Amino acid sequence: MKDFWKKQIKEKGKLVFLAPMDWYWDSAYRQSVKNIAPNTILVSEFYSADWLVHSKFLADSVLPHASIEDPLIIQIFWKDPEMFAKAAKIISNPKYNIAWIDINMWCPAKKVVRSWHWSSLLINEDTAFEIVRKMNEATHLPISVKTRLSFDWWQDLINFAKWLEKAWCSLLTVHWRTAKQAYTWIADLEPIYELQKHLNIPVVCNWDILNYDDWMSKVNNLAWFMIWRWSFWNPWCFLPWDQHPTLLEILNQMEFHALKLVESKWEHKWNLEIRKHLVQYLKNFPWVKKYRKRLVTTESFESTKKTIEDIKLEFKDDLNKRPSLGEIEKKEEI
Ligand SMILES: Cc1cc2nc3c(=O)[nH]c(=O)nc-3n(C[C@H](O)[C@H](O)[C@H](O)COP(=O)(O)O)c2cc1C
Repeated sequence: MKDFWKKQIKEKGKLVFLAPMDWYWDSAYRQSVKNIAPNTILVSEFYSADWLVHSKFLADSVLPHASIEDPLIIQIFWKDPEMFAKAAKIISNPKYNIAWIDINMWCPAKKVVRSWHWSSLLINEDTAFEIVRKMNEATHLPISVKTRLSFDWWQDLINFAKWLEKAWCSLLTVHWRTAKQAYTWIADLEPIYELQKHLNIPVVCNWDILNYDDWMSKVNNLAWFMIWRWSFWNPWCFLPWDQHPTLLEILNQMEFHALKLVESKWEHKWNLEIRKHLVQYLKNFPWVKKYRKRLVTTESFESTKKTIEDIKLEFKDDLNKRPSLGEIEKKEEI
C-alpha cells in the first residue's frame, strides 16, 4: 500500500492532481472533475486532525465519498504528532476507502502560523519529521506532504525534504513560493527541478500551472503536477487542448455538477455552493451576461436545469462547436 503512488505512475504515466482548496472542492466538484478527466487524482480540502479524532459526525460526513472519486487523498492539518497519528488511524478505517493521507505544511495564514500549525512546521523541523514518522507507524496508507518553498528562503527545502523522505514521506508537493511571499511571486521552476534531483520520491509541482499543455512544456524531470486556480475557471484544464468540450458538453457538465451537489448537500446549502461554480463554466462567453443573474441566484435544481435548457435553445446552432475563446462571441458581434 505504501508504494501506491509508484503503481499510479506505472499505470498512468504523467499524473495530474486537483489541488486542495478549502470551501470550493467538495465531493460534487471532485466528481465533476473526474467526470471530465478520469485520470486526475483528487486531494480533499484540509480537515483538522483534532476534529476528525473528536467528532465521529465530521469523520462520517467528510470521509465517505463516491466511487468515481477514487483514489481519494485526504488532507489534514494540526500541530502535534500524536493527534496526527490518531487521525491517521481513523482515516485508514477500510470503510472509508481512502487511498492516502496528505499533511498540510502549506498554509501561511498568520494566526495559524503563530499557533505552530501548517507552514510553521517548516521552521519546526523536528516536529514535522515526527509527524510523518508517527503517522507511518499508525497507518498502512502512504503519507505525503504539501508544502512551500520554505518559510522565507528556498535553500532550506532540500535538506528538509531529504529528512521527510527518511521519515517515509511518499511524495512531496511544493508550491514554489515562501510563506511570506504568499501569492506575490512569479513562477521559476528551476529550483523545483533541482529539488527533484536530490530525492527519490516524486516532487509534485504546484504553482501557476495553467493547463495540461502548459504543464507539458514545463515537465522536465518531474512526474506530476497539481492545479488549483485554473481548474476553477476551466475544469477542462486537466486535458490536452484538443480534448476540450463543445458548448453542449459544457452545459451537460453544469447539470451533472448541479445534480451531484443536490445529492450530497442540503437544499439551502446547495444553492450557495452551485452559484459560485455555474458562471465559471461559461465565463468565456460574453453572452453569459444575459444569464448571469439567473445563474447566481438559482434557487433549486429545477431552476438551474431550466436556465441550462434556455441556453441550449438560444444557442442550438452552436451546441456542437468547440468554443475556443470566442467563436460564439464573434457571432454575437455580427
Ligand atoms: C481559498 C483557498 C483555499 C485553499 N485551500 C487549501 C487547502 O485546503 N489545502 C492546501 O494545501 N492548499 C490550499 N490552498 C492552496 C492551493 O491548493 C494551491 O497550493 C495554491 O493555490 C497554488 O496553486 P496554483 O498556482 O495552481 O493556484 C488554497 C488556496 C486558496 C486561495
